[in-house]
Amino acid sequence: MTDPILKISNLTKRFGGNTAVSAINLEVMPRETIAIIGPNGAGKTTFYNMVSGRMTPSNGSVELEGKDITGLPPHKISRMGVSRSFQLNNIFPEMTVQENVEVALTALHGHSRRLFNFASRNRAVQEEARQLLDKLHILDLASRRAEVISYGDKRLLEIAVVLATRPHLVLLDEPTAGMTPDETRRTTALIRQLAETGDYTFLITEHDMDVVFGLADRILVMHRGENLFFGTPEEVKNHPEVRRAYLGEDEEEEASA
Ligand SMILES: Nc1ncnc2c1ncn2[C@@H]1O[C@H](COP(=O)(O)OP(=O)(O)OP(=O)(O)O)[C@@H](O)[C@H]1O
Ligand SMILES: [Mg+2]
Repeated sequence: MTDPILKISNLTKRFGGNTAVSAINLEVMPRETIAIIGPNGAGKTTFYNMVSGRMTPSNGSVELEGKDITGLPPHKISRMGVSRSFQLNNIFPEMTVQENVEVALTALHGHSRRLFNFASRNRAVQEEARQLLDKLHILDLASRRAEVISYGDKRLLEIAVVLATRPHLVLLDEPTAGMTPDETRRTTALIRQLAETGDYTFLITEHDMDVVFGLADRILVMHRGENLFFGTPEEVKNHPEVRRAYLGEDEEEEASA
């Protein structure tokens, strides 16, 4: 039996009187892709914030590869192999696409952005950056300034930056939000390819059900902070309460179907 890469027990976050995440239990196996779905305000991002260390849980624990990481600061959790996307906030617009990845790689090697000029002369870092861009199919954009590339390509660059820290566990928050249908298809296929390399375990929050059903091995359905259901895509599709609460079906539609 393999041990879970991530074990969440009773994880809870309260903001004043509002319980944003309520006693969530979850075991994620290595190389799985787990989607977390639920309406706006369900608690998905808050859940990520606790796993990545940005928020301290009110209750419960987070174990990564058997180690208790509950309440550790983000940089420590990141160094232990957890990386998450930040809705373009970790991209430097005035730098080139390749330099953005080099900065992330340099941070991994323990240097600050201040020392970046050193890194830019380091062939190994350049080579690794180019390999990552190639993985995300944006190597042809390597020398463009990040601010001039399309929104969809920026989101792919963001994933390259996330992967530059060599994470085992990757948290993507709505990776296709705001993308055109074509960009969404391209990104979904890419994430699937990355998952199939077996190098990563993914947690993905997403409102686009085609993306969710196209990627997830298992799906956690959250509703008002709680675990409404956890199961395979097939089980989620067939779960009446989930269909009613989240997939936008009401009783009338069901009756007439
Ligand atoms: N820093 C905060 N302070 C107070 N309340 C917060 C904070 N962050 C989130 N909340 C509240 O916690 C609840 C869950 O929010 P969260 O952002 O986790 O939902 P979400 O599932 O990510 O929603 P969305 O689909 O809109 O991204 C909401 O009621 C929200 O208002
Ligand atoms: Mg959110």
